[in-house]
Amino acid sequence: MGRLDNKVAVITGAAGGMGKADALLFVQEGAKVVLTDLQAEKVKEVAKEIEAMGGEALALKHNVASEEDWARVAEEAIARFGKIDILVNNAGISSATPYMEQTVESFERVMKINLNSVFLGQKAVIPHMIENGGGSIVNISSIAGLTGGSGAGPYTASKGAVRMLTKATAVDFAKYHIRVNSVHPGFIETPMTKDMFKDERMTTWFQSMTPLPRLGKAEDIARGVLFLASDESSYITGVELPIDGGYFAK
Ligand SMILES: NC(=O)c1ccc[n+]([C@@H]2O[C@H](COP(=O)([O-])OP(=O)(O)OC[C@H]3O[C@@H](n4cnc5c(N)ncnc54)[C@H](O)[C@@H]3O)[C@@H](O)[C@H]2O)c1
Repeated sequence: MGRLDNKVAVITGAAGGMGKADALLFVQEGAKVVLTDLQAEKVKEVAKEIEAMGGEALALKHNVASEEDWARVAEEAIARFGKIDILVNNAGISSATPYMEQTVESFERVMKINLNSVFLGQKAVIPHMIENGGGSIVNISSIAGLTGGSGAGPYTASKGAVRMLTKATAVDFAKYHIRVNSVHPGFIETPMTKDMFKDERMTTWFQSMTPLPRLGKAEDIARGVLFLASDESSYITGVELPIDGGYFAK
């Protein structure tokens, strides 16, 4: 028995990093997955890997900032698997441009990809969840969505807004048995952070901020996402789950 038997999950940003780790774990636990990413070829490779494991996966090219793309993703997911039980809004970009060098355009780009994507994804999928009698949405925020940090203004703003959009959506749609929670990763080794972690001084600094004596892995996040996606958390909605090696324990 898998923890996601008979469930259909849509996961964005699934070409690598945390999205791919979520996809592999979900399939091991019995889910069928719709994997989306801007990187069409890479996300197809992940779907092939899953099919080779005996799982079922549909790979779609998708810009999460586009409402038209979201309508197509929801339609193709329903056409292939008949329903959507789980949505993981994982795709995102980082931004390390100093504040005074940011422009309205660079600020809005981060907002569109990290925040508008969550608004649009929820809007596209919730009607299907209502029809289906319920669902679980997991929005990937960050420790940067819980506290300020230097040099990442738009990123921090977008991830803080994802946290509060999660709570507002949880309240609005609880009556339909739709749960909405956010996950807040700490310092995790993925393609997004690999260049940063190549710098030994940076890695030493990140580790000094984290009580558990290692950086996080995509699989550490996937296990928390699985819990919130599954029926094991059926009375949990509107919460934020830091998966951060103890960063917020201090
Ligand atoms: N790595 C970390 O330390 C860390 C920490 C906290 C939060 N996060 C968040 O976790 C999530 C996953 O990050 P990751 O570290 O796995 O990064 P990643 O760069 O490995 O993966 C992100 C994926 O999103 C895709 N993507 C980017 N823009 C897109 C768009 N417009 N439409 C569709 N797909 C798009 C990328 O192609 C990529 O495959 C992100 O939301 C990120 O902000 C990461």
